[in-house]
Amino acid sequence: QAATPQELLDGYAAQAKQENPAFTGFSAERGAAFFKTEHASNGRQTSCATCHTPDPRQQGKTRANKVIEPLAPIVNPQRFTDINKVEKWFGRNCKDVLERACTAQEKGDFIRFLVNV
Ligand code: HEM
Repeated sequence: QAATPQELLDGYAAQAKQENPAFTGFSAERGAAFFKTEHASNGRQTSCATCHTPDPRQQGKTRANKVIEPLAPIVNPQRFTDINKVEKWFGRNCKDVLERACTAQEKGDFIRFLVNV
């Protein structure tokens, strides 16, 4: 399902409003903090930056050392242009790192951060 990053942000904003009536918007600063914060999960400390590196304009790598192309749309315009792909990877990676699903607030902050780097 094709989309622009802005359309994804609009969709997550609608969801975030439902999850929390006090929702006031997304924050690149909160997204940056979320990206690098480590969480204990499956016996190890992991953050998004563990695989995506602390600089999302750089290539990352999986635990099996396979290259992950950068997440930042400024260097990789294919990112955040496919709702199904974005939801699939939020699902897998949030569960891996947080041992729960990400909230719409967290997803929007994350994208807000990445489109701004
Ligand atoms: C791709 C989010 C942590 C490995 C993605 C995508 C999102 C995402 C949204 C797809 C973006 C797009 O193509 O439009 C996150 C978040 C993380 C996190 C929110 C932290 C909570 C990790 C970790 C790993 C990882 C820890 C490795 C264990 C990958 C891989 C892909 C991917 C392999 C897909 C490869 C590709 O499309 O090139 N991530 N990620 N991520 N992530 Fe993460």
